[in-house]
Amino acid sequence: MSIEFQNNKFHLFNDTMSYIVEVSRQGDLLHLYFGARVDADDVQPSVKMRGFDCCANDSDAEYSLSALPQEYPSAGASDFRSPAYEIETDNGLHTPELKYKSHEMINGKPPISGLPAVYVENDSEAQTLVITAADEVHGIEVKLYYTVFENFNAICRHSEITNISNPYIYLNNAQSVSLDFPAGAYEYIHLEGAWAREKHIDRNTVHKGTQGFESRRGASGHVENPFLMFFDKGANEEYGNVYGISLIYSGNHRFSMEQEMYETVRVQAGINPFQFRFKLNKGERFVTPEAVMVYSRDGFAKMSNTFHKLYRTRLCRGKWRDKERPILINNWEGTYFDFTKEKLLAIADVASEIGIELFVLDDGWFGKRDNDNCSLGDWYENKEKLGGTLSELAKEMNKRGLKFGLWFEPEMISPDSDLYREHPDWAINVPNVKPHLGRHQLVLDYTRAEVCDYIVERITEILGNANIEYVKWDMNRNMSDVYSLHLDADCQGEFYHRYILGLYDVLDRIITAFPDILFEGCSGGGGRNDPGMLYYMPQNWASDDTDATERLYIQYGGSMVYPASTVGAHISAVPNHQTGRISSLSMRGTVAMNGAFGYELDLTSLGKSELDEMKKQIAFYKNNRHLVMNGAFYRLFNPFTSRHSAWMYVSEDKSKALVYYVVKTARPSNEDVYLKLKGLDENAKYTISGKTQSGRTLMNYGIVINSGEHDGNNMIFEVKRV
Ligand code: GLA
Repeated sequence: MSIEFQNNKFHLFNDTMSYIVEVSRQGDLLHLYFGARVDADDVQPSVKMRGFDCCANDSDAEYSLSALPQEYPSAGASDFRSPAYEIETDNGLHTPELKYKSHEMINGKPPISGLPAVYVENDSEAQTLVITAADEVHGIEVKLYYTVFENFNAICRHSEITNISNPYIYLNNAQSVSLDFPAGAYEYIHLEGAWAREKHIDRNTVHKGTQGFESRRGASGHVENPFLMFFDKGANEEYGNVYGISLIYSGNHRFSMEQEMYETVRVQAGINPFQFRFKLNKGERFVTPEAVMVYSRDGFAKMSNTFHKLYRTRLCRGKWRDKERPILINNWEGTYFDFTKEKLLAIADVASEIGIELFVLDDGWFGKRDNDNCSLGDWYENKEKLGGTLSELAKEMNKRGLKFGLWFEPEMISPDSDLYREHPDWAINVPNVKPHLGRHQLVLDYTRAEVCDYIVERITEILGNANIEYVKWDMNRNMSDVYSLHLDADCQGEFYHRYILGLYDVLDRIITAFPDILFEGCSGGGGRNDPGMLYYMPQNWASDDTDATERLYIQYGGSMVYPASTVGAHISAVPNHQTGRISSLSMRGTVAMNGAFGYELDLTSLGKSELDEMKKQIAFYKNNRHLVMNGAFYRLFNPFTSRHSAWMYVSEDKSKALVYYVVKTARPSNEDVYLKLKGLDENAKYTISGKTQSGRTLMNYGIVINSGEHDGNNMIFEVKRV
């Protein structure tokens, strides 16, 4: 891997990938190429001037920013496509034009202050290029950061915009990345959804005009995950140029694609400009979140595996990053708010008996909370309901051989809470306007230091006073009525981003103080399943929908970018509480064992045969979780387009694999299914279902399955090299 600067071209490359930026003869930063490895000398931009295009000066009449591919395009300086950033100076100037000033190359990858980002453990893993460009008249300087890795086909990008000389400027838009792709036929996938239906695959053809998706919710959201796959038309799991763009950010985001008149496509990702306006006084700078761009020449699977390994090993952090995750029992769907100490311990007794490792006490243990109407913010244990202290409860769990974990929802405040009665101004709210409630609650104003300090103090006290080894950090509404008493009138446009900075600061303080605790993010399930949260918490509750069939879709979509180690997945009761569907315990297990696995039901209501089956699931998972967490992942059947679903994990040395197969929708007189495995060693022999076969046969001919005629029939195959 290296970064070279020759003939005015920056070439960032590793063995298989190139990214090329040119400093043009007019000093502009042009985007020449991103894709499979090439020789930089041979790559030239098209400088043809056409029709109504503008040019910078008549002596270079062929040169036009209206058509040239750019790295960080400005607004109004003759490029009529979507700008990467927009400013307005104190005297109303708003058409800056950046010109190259200098550059620097750094070994390794510097952290981004206050923001989550991919990191390296050794400077030899990556190199970073920082290009500085400026506009003297508009008084701004922009630094563009690019990191290229030795072992990942990924480029990380972010930018810093500084007000150099104006009394103040407003920054109205600041994208993390802008990429101009050559004229071509493209498609894209985004992960759309809703509460309890997250991360569904939506595949579209890129067409003329602007298209894309965004969040305006103050969180990354259930509706649109901050992730885009942009690819050659017709690409599939194994074929085609694929670019995955993932934004390491938990707030409002926007992904856009603009196919313009010359058929090129400008792709951008970053903070949503919706209600965004950041005031920068002289000398101040704004830092955008990081975007990770993964390139695969060979379809979706390679892209996913690059994201999986990069995020698992160089975004997630802390003691739990590489550790096997404990199998948990969560009491939420088992008891909801209606529990006593006796009930919890009765569940714990069964849990411990069948081999579960962690008991998670969910909502309802604090304040006077017996329903979702009250007490958020009052982070004091309810000793009456708990029949003692949290510390005592934790000890009871520990006695049974279980770790103890606890649920919090620290960003919220209930109008019916002591905290609200004392500090009504700590809630996000427009003065004199009745706020719009979501789940009967309001959001705390994390732009205020005293609010963040209070939360850190409360949580620190609770975590410090009991043996709590796991925390579920929840967030159960999106933001409305956005206004902060703490911000000046002309800084209200900073709110959404400052909230996220406040959140990241709180998370950083807490995880630093409690490095041994395993944290799991949650937001009504997958409302904030984003890479920003993964930097603080190595796993995320994937969805409030625990129905096994629904989870086939949710986990398939999520697997495009997120590794199984980060995906919280539980077996719950039937009929399922979200869909009413009845699926076998075996199917529920086959689906839920693909991530940070657990149970979420009243174990005391089950009979011996179910508990015996669970014991077997638990033993199986314990034997195999290392492979699920760390293996290369391959999607075999797509549940969105097929009536089957299948996927597999392969160990790094290809000596072991696990193959999962589920009949999503049965059909009478069904066909034989040829399940072609992937990622094995062609020349090796493997045992599977008591037979020995070559990797070649397993991948090219496949396993022949007659799947039976029932919804949810399922199989797990263990594959071992002989
Ligand atoms: C959210 C979470 C659930 C549960 C409830 C508790 O909906 O996603 O898992 O913790 O809150 O109120």
